[in-house]
Amino acid sequence: MKNKPPEPAEVPTILIVDDTPANVAVLADYLEDHGLRIVVAQDGQEGLSRAEFVKPDLILLDIMMPGMDGFETCRLLKENPAILDIPVIFMTALTDTSNVVKGFQLGAVDYVTKPIQIEEVMARIGTHLSLRAMHKQLSAKNLMLGQEVETRQLAEEALRAVSVEQRSLIAKLQQAHEQLLQSEKMASVGQLAAGIAHEINNPIGFLNSNIGTLQDYIDTLFEALDSCGDAMARATNREEVVARFEEVKANAEIDFLKNDIVDLMRESKEGLKRVKDIVQALKDFSHVGEANWLEADLHKGLESTLNIVNNEIKYKATVVREYGDLPPVRCLASQLNQVFMNLLVNAAQAIIEAGTITIRTGNGTNGWVWVEICDTGSGIPPDIMNRIFDPFFTTKPVGSGTGLGLSLSYGIVHKHGGRIEVQSEVNKGSCFTVHLPVNPDLATGPG
Ligand SMILES: Nc1ncnc2c1ncn2[C@@H]1O[C@H](COP(=O)(O)OP(=O)(O)OP(=O)(O)O)[C@@H](O)[C@H]1O
Ligand SMILES: [Mg+2]
Repeated sequence: MKNKPPEPAEVPTILIVDDTPANVAVLADYLEDHGLRIVVAQDGQEGLSRAEFVKPDLILLDIMMPGMDGFETCRLLKENPAILDIPVIFMTALTDTSNVVKGFQLGAVDYVTKPIQIEEVMARIGTHLSLRAMHKQLSAKNLMLGQEVETRQLAEEALRAVSVEQRSLIAKLQQAHEQLLQSEKMASVGQLAAGIAHEINNPIGFLNSNIGTLQDYIDTLFEALDSCGDAMARATNREEVVARFEEVKANAEIDFLKNDIVDLMRESKEGLKRVKDIVQALKDFSHVGEANWLEADLHKGLESTLNIVNNEIKYKATVVREYGDLPPVRCLASQLNQVFMNLLVNAAQAIIEAGTITIRTGNGTNGWVWVEICDTGSGIPPDIMNRIFDPFFTTKPVGSGTGLGLSLSYGIVHKHGGRIEVQSEVNKGSCFTVHLPVNPDLATGPG
């Protein structure tokens, strides 16, 4: 049966290395007739250089040649990386097994015996060319796979690098956010310090004046006492002492002093209490030394915040409280107070002359609570509504608003697992509602 060589796109090339031109001529003609390209070499040395130059698909190699024999030629072929994978078929008259074994050991893929049976040679060449074609395809596929693996590895490495970069960016953002939070807090503290100073200055002012008045009263009382002493020393009877005492009492307005001292003391005590309350509110507001999540009373937070921002509000707005029943909420209290402060200050700033700020609180469903701060201020035009939470967005004059209040409040509420909702109508007012889970770790549903 004729075994036809494969029909690859390129004509396969066979290198025949044989020192007997007569043998070669017949074989070469036959193979060429069967669509193969033939290159001939007449000794081992020539065979090696042709193989390297032509890169044939298969080598037919005679064993018995003068000079370098077929075995040596094959050994050198297999040492040259450029050509070592070209299949070699020995042609030999030697049929003893030791030579056949030696040929295979040197890397030959097959052997044919002389005198040559042309059809047999053709069949074997066909088989090995097919094998070689398959081998080449496999190598190409392997190469492609290798490249694919390499590309994938590169992509994975790139991804890893991107994720490392992202992590570091997130860390940097986090840090920037913390800094922003801190600087906003400092800015608001600075802004509020003036207001608080004013708040404290008021009671201190009248305490000072009261003490001055008390000093005068005490001087008068001592003078009266001295006059009474004199009268008692000089008087000869009891009527005279009583008359002098009544006179001194009337001159010193003792009855008036008695009443006024009571009022002065009451006012002064109130003043002192006001200062004490402000200091307490400052402490509560900042929750000094408290960086942990704790269960807190939001009403207490609202009250201490109101005390702090009192100066911003009191000239413009009446505060109405409509508090519901609230369970303790697990939170970072000082940060929530900052949210309430931003909302209250915004509400006061939205009121141009006089208005009302209403604070409502209530228990939602599924373990949620809400705090609502409504004002009767200017309202928010619809076209800027979706920008008010953007950092640095402000409609206030340059230098008066940083535009960070709402964006930071949004971040804080988000950190608590909650959300802020806004309803507003121009010239009527706005309502900001903060929804919070009672326990952010157990929060379910939207509340
Ligand atoms: N209650 C409100 N009524 C009307 N407009 C409001 C109200 N609250 C916020 N806004 C609008 O949203 C903008 C952004 O508010 P945000 O608190 O973030 O910044 P700001 O008040 O302008 O500046 P900052 O709070 O940093 O001093 C305000 O400039 C204002 O236009
Ligand atoms: Mg603000």
